[in-house]
Amino acid sequence: MALTALNVVSDPIYADAADVAKAMQPEEALFCFSADRLKARLALFADGFPGTVSYAVKSNPSREVVTALSQAGLTHWDVASVHEMALVHSIQPAAHFHYHNPVKSRREILDAYSKYGCRRFAVDAREEVAKIAAIVGDDRSVELAVRFVLPRDRATAAHDFSTKFGAPEHIAVELLQDIQRRGYVPVMTFHPGSQSRDPNVYVRHIEAAHRIAKAAGVHISKLNVGGGFPASYPLSKPAPLQSYFSLIAEATTRFFGKGTEPALECEPGRGLVANCMSLLTRIKLVCSDGDDIFLNDGIYGGLMEFMQAPVLQPPYRVIRGGKVLEGPSKPWKVFGPTCDPLDVLPAKLDLPAGIRDEDFIEFGTLGAYGIATSTMFNGYGNHAVIPVDEVFNG
Ligand SMILES: Cc1ncc(COP(=O)(O)O)c(C=O)c1O
Repeated sequence: MALTALNVVSDPIYADAADVAKAMQPEEALFCFSADRLKARLALFADGFPGTVSYAVKSNPSREVVTALSQAGLTHWDVASVHEMALVHSIQPAAHFHYHNPVKSRREILDAYSKYGCRRFAVDAREEVAKIAAIVGDDRSVELAVRFVLPRDRATAAHDFSTKFGAPEHIAVELLQDIQRRGYVPVMTFHPGSQSRDPNVYVRHIEAAHRIAKAAGVHISKLNVGGGFPASYPLSKPAPLQSYFSLIAEATTRFFGKGTEPALECEPGRGLVANCMSLLTRIKLVCSDGDDIFLNDGIYGGLMEFMQAPVLQPPYRVIRGGKVLEGPSKPWKVFGPTCDPLDVLPAKLDLPAGIRDEDFIEFGTLGAYGIATSTMFNGYGNHAVIPVDEVFNG
């Protein structure tokens, strides 16, 4: 077990996935996790971002990740559900929650407010403001964060979130006014889309936040610039994080004015956790006719995101006998373990021509939306998390 009852991530006894493969010969797919990698990435955000850093728990809700972040001093958590609050609370009882899922049931709002002390809720609809008000009454410490959305001008993200959440500008103006009239603390937030490759997308949103607040005649004391910070993938190599942070700081001062700018917050998921985990899978069958192979994990498991956004294809390598297998390669069609015909990777993978069953394939950069989106379809998906010194990131 990777975690003790005291919520401490145990020290790695394996160097990397190759070491794990050799020593454990795992039959089931598992995740290798480097707490040091994660803490180093958190330090980049904590030292570079000009405001409060929280973590989007949805991107990787494993106890190991939450525990390591908590140990490293993180105190603010963006949660999508009360279940995520319960998880974080069990590890860090004094956690501050930002319940930034714009749609919550009355029961969820009540539980968040009364059981977990949550005082921040995101809203993008008038009805949601009214629902929250009916529950929290005249508690003026409650912060309501208006999530706004801009028309999508060009594809700058691997996942566009604007089709589901966010109030258009004219509604955002009304929401801010309503929140102020009711006496709650008005805050603003947006999400520029996951794996945002163009840092200027934040600038456009900060400019819009200022425009909306001005039109509403409402002073906002906090602006949450969301997640969207990119990680490095073979097909998507972003600019350094610091260039995002500098642009965000500069744009906030430029649009809101020095001395009157809102305090900044961010809530990265992918950009924080992507490179702290890899997925160690094993080949179950290599068909000698043709180019089909079958793994013990697939798109219903740790490789789900690969299906939704092929540009986020993770780096991969084959391991045999505790070493990386080299040699002439060829394209292989890769099926997952379930009986579902859709369980096949969206693109062929270039793998050594000499692969055979029981070889391992490690997929790197799978800390974000890997373990998080895995299902138990066909009984697979119960991934162990094994601490290692170093994870593969291509
Ligand atoms: C409200 C909110 N904040 C932050 C995130 C994290 O986004 P990312 O993983 O792109 O950083 C998400 C992702 O769904 C989100 O919905």
